[in-house]
Parts: sequence; C-alpha cells; structure tokens
Amino acid sequence: MTMLSKPLENPAFIALRNRTVMSAMSRSFADAERCATDEMAAYYARRAAGGAGLILTEGTLIHASGDGWVNAPYIAEAKHADAWRKVVDAVHAEGGAIACQLWHMGRISHADFTGDAPVSSTNRAAAGVNRQNNKPYGEPRALEAHEMPTIYGYFADAAERALDAGFDAVELHMGHGYLPDQFMDGQVNDRTDQYGGSVENRCRFALELVEAVTARVPGSKVMARISPSRMMGGLYEWPDLDAMIAHLIPALSQLGLGALDVSCANSPYHETAGRMVRKIRPLFDGVIVAGASLSADEAEAELASGMVDAITWGRAFIANPDLVQKIEQGQELTPFDDAMRSTLV
Ligand SMILES: Cc1cc2nc3c(=O)[nH]c(=O)nc-3n(C[C@H](O)[C@H](O)[C@H](O)COP(=O)(O)O)c2cc1C
Repeated sequence: MTMLSKPLENPAFIALRNRTVMSAMSRSFADAERCATDEMAAYYARRAAGGAGLILTEGTLIHASGDGWVNAPYIAEAKHADAWRKVVDAVHAEGGAIACQLWHMGRISHADFTGDAPVSSTNRAAAGVNRQNNKPYGEPRALEAHEMPTIYGYFADAAERALDAGFDAVELHMGHGYLPDQFMDGQVNDRTDQYGGSVENRCRFALELVEAVTARVPGSKVMARISPSRMMGGLYEWPDLDAMIAHLIPALSQLGLGALDVSCANSPYHETAGRMVRKIRPLFDGVIVAGASLSADEAEAELASGMVDAITWGRAFIANPDLVQKIEQGQELTPFDDAMRSTLV
C-alpha cells in the first residue's frame, strides 16, 4: 500500500479514506441565485468516484460584502445550504468526504458585486484590475475594530450552515491575499490599532476568527488555508515570516483547529509551501495538507518526510476526475489545459 492510499486517522480532524485532497477551485458555474447546481453535484461526485479522499469546494462566499467573482456560489442563506446539500449527498454516495471553503475577498472584491465599497484591513486599493469585470480594484473601507465580530459572525454562521447541510468540514480561506490575509500581510495591513503593526496585532484577526468559528462548530471539522509564501512576480512572503509563524501556528493549534492547508497557489511547491510546512509541522498538532502539482513520487516522498499528512492537487483534478485511481494504477495523467476552465466535466 502506498502512503497516499493509507487512510488518515488523526483524532484532531475528520477521518479520510486516503491522503489525497482536491484543492478549492473557483469554477463560476453557480446559478443566478448563486446556488450550487445539479451539474456541480455531478462534477464533484465524479472526483469522489475517482477516489479523492477529501474534496474542497470552490471558494464559497459567506456574505455579499465579500463578493467579487462572477457566478461564485454562496453559503449565506438557507437556500444556498439547501442547494449544497445535493452536492454533499452526491459526494457521500461515492464514499468521499467534502469540505466547504468559506470565502470573503475583502479588498479583492468589487463594488459591482458588493454594492458598496469593499472592506479590508486598509483603505488602500489593491494594485491591478479585478479580472472578473476588468475594472480596477476600488478603494476599500478599512474595517473598524468594533466591526470585526460581525465578520467573524458571517464565517461562523456559514460554518454552521455548511455543517448542517452535511459537509464533513469547512475550510476558512485565510490565504491568497483575501480578507484574513489582508490583516496578516504586513505589506497590505497599514493599521495603527490593535489589528496592525506588531506580529501579534497582525495575527489578531485570524486568531479571533478561528476562535469565533471553533466556538460554534467543533474544531475537528475546521481547516484553514494559509499562504505565507508564494510567487507573485518574484518570491512573495509575509514580512516577519518566522515571527508570524512562531506566533500564529501554536495559537491555531491551541484553539483546536483541525487542519491547516498550506498553499502556495500555483507556485513551485518545494520553494514555497514545501519550505513552510517544515517550519509549521513542529508547531501544529492537527493535520497538515499541502501540495501543488506534485508528481506521485514527489507526493509519496513528501508524505514519507512526515511534514504533511495529505497531498493537495488542483488542476490535475480538473483534468483527471479519476486522478486518484490513475495515480494508484500508475497511469499517465491528462495534462491540464486552459480550455478546461470553461467547462464543468
Ligand atoms: C481554476 C482555478 C480556480 C482556483 N480557485 C481557488 C479558490 O477558489 N480557492 C483557493 O483557495 N484556491 C483556488 N485556486 C488555487 C488552487 O486551489 C491550487 O492552490 C493551485 O491551483 C495550485 O495547485 P495545482 O498546481 O495542483 O493546480 C484555484 C486554481 C485554479 C486553477
């Protein structure tokens, strides 16, 4: 038996039938009400039928104030949860497990979607354009300290709604430059209050968020995705990286967070997330998942290193619904191609 095919049983987190994880990938196929569709249920169920140990849904918006993506699904109201239930049931029918990625885009959202100025840690706009509407990112409004619990409440409500709909777990999207990352990243966060400045202050939003969510749902069903290091036109890392990790990770462990998904988006793994998990592992008691386009051999080696408990794949799962079976049988993988973004097969 390969390490990838070994069940994952760690009391800190939900049990998985193997150590393969499908990464969250926005696909923009929700309906006009931003509800998951039958087509989406079939798409996710095919990945479960193909052997995926855990499926992360595409980024799923917890509230309209965090929206900046065409046809991204929501989990903000009962109708959204009802729609997700058919996805969850279809995945479970194939023996898979599925977690809902909870998403607030902060300043990366857009007033065209939110109806109001986006909110963030800062009132400085992100550079560039929102590729969903090709308009420059608008000037955000820096959240005031007294507003933080409202945002945590959106996440906690969404987590509860997701677990009630049958999801096995939820993943808080705290990476890739979205709202929680806009607090942790010292290049974005220019606050002078208790949510900015020092390492402790920059971690405060993320830690209070996890505390609020784990007060409402079991920590063993909560994951968080972080991306302290990735390539974005050169190597991009949180300023004070080691001090941030030394403060954040033991505190997340202490709060009983079940799993960390250490992401580098689509950067070369060994230079980014692979380095991060080596710093994080000694400080975290829960499950660690990480990856990015690793070969089967690289995935086995990474599991054997003991630095991660399961391996994530993104684009390979789009191109190969039966990815896990193909890996187990040593079959060649279909390469991902950009045209695959526009269909949901
Ligand atoms: C089409 C597409 C959509 C994505 N959407 C999300 C998302 O909603 N949430 C997220 O955390 N990452 C998202 N990602 C990043 C992936 O989860 C993953 O980290 C990245 O693709 C690197 O893994 P890979 O090299 O195995 O594809 C997306 C990637 C792709 C290709």
